[in-house]
Amino acid sequence: MNTRENTKSYQEVERRIKETIFKIKHRIAVFSGKGGVGKTTISVNLAYALKSLGSATGILDADVTGPNVAKMLNVYGDLIYMDEVIIPFEKYGVKMISAASILGKGQPLIWHGPLRSKLINQFLADVDWGVLDYLIADLPPGTGDEIITIGQEMKPDFAVIVTTPQQVSVIDAERAINMAKQLSIPHIGIIENMSGFICPHCSAEIDIFGFGGGRKLAEENDVHFLGSIPIDIQARILGDKGEPIVHEKPDCEVSKAIIDIALKIDLLLNENKSIN
Ligand SMILES: Nc1ncnc2c1ncn2[C@@H]1O[C@H](COP(=O)(O)OP(=O)(O)OP(=O)(O)O)[C@@H](O)[C@H]1O
Ligand SMILES: [Mg+2]
Repeated sequence: MNTRENTKSYQEVERRIKETIFKIKHRIAVFSGKGGVGKTTISVNLAYALKSLGSATGILDADVTGPNVAKMLNVYGDLIYMDEVIIPFEKYGVKMISAASILGKGQPLIWHGPLRSKLINQFLADVDWGVLDYLIADLPPGTGDEIITIGQEMKPDFAVIVTTPQQVSVIDAERAINMAKQLSIPHIGIIENMSGFICPHCSAEIDIFGFGGGRKLAEENDVHFLGSIPIDIQARILGDKGEPIVHEKPDCEVSKAIIDIALKIDLLLNENKSIN
């Protein structure tokens, strides 16, 4: 392809992304400085929480090299094309697309940043998301190419930054806050995940990773504190089974915390109400 054709196809992708974005009222990017803090668990369950509040919702798995959304929903299969558009998967009424669809089980995706960005652009340009209230992008840890692409192309209006309470995670979450600020994402909110563990035997609360690091970080950086989510073994078991806890057990503490966070995000974005 010559440079002129390249420019033309780039413009075409940009045009199609704009068309997609136009039909999606709010776009949320979920990211963190540190890995394994619960981004995918929160992305998936936040989607079901928003759905339970009556919003049409989709999840874009933007963790191209570690696409866990498919696993946490137990939704696998090749990408479905119809007249050159990709039809997203749907589970319990939430739409989803993931790079897992182009990978065999356990197969690594060894792609440089520009190729990963290209796939994310394709998920924005070619997927028929339809009219949505919310599209949630689940990102890999850190501040790499994927978040830059999502920031520039999906144009999130809310950055949800996930941290666990302890210092090593909070320090990295501060990098994520500054990244969100540099990307000019209008709303930034912190979630403290794995915040306390309720013993299933004696109901005592144990702060395995400490407590309060997320709220303090939010206060220090003048961003919203969205809430704390406790550790619950069921969240992990259901995640492994591909069943979102918010859908399966809406009355447990983890689900109630996530539904409360969804309500806050909805209030902030749609009614511009203060939440802290
Ligand atoms: N509140 C919670 N209670 C119990 N287990 C949890 C909780 N949050 C997350 N987990 C579990 O912790 C593990 C890591 O969570 P998850 O994959 O969502 O993190 P992540 O930040 O997306 O990781 P990565 O950085 O690799 O993308 C998973 O097994 C998940 O089920
Ligand atoms: Mg993840």
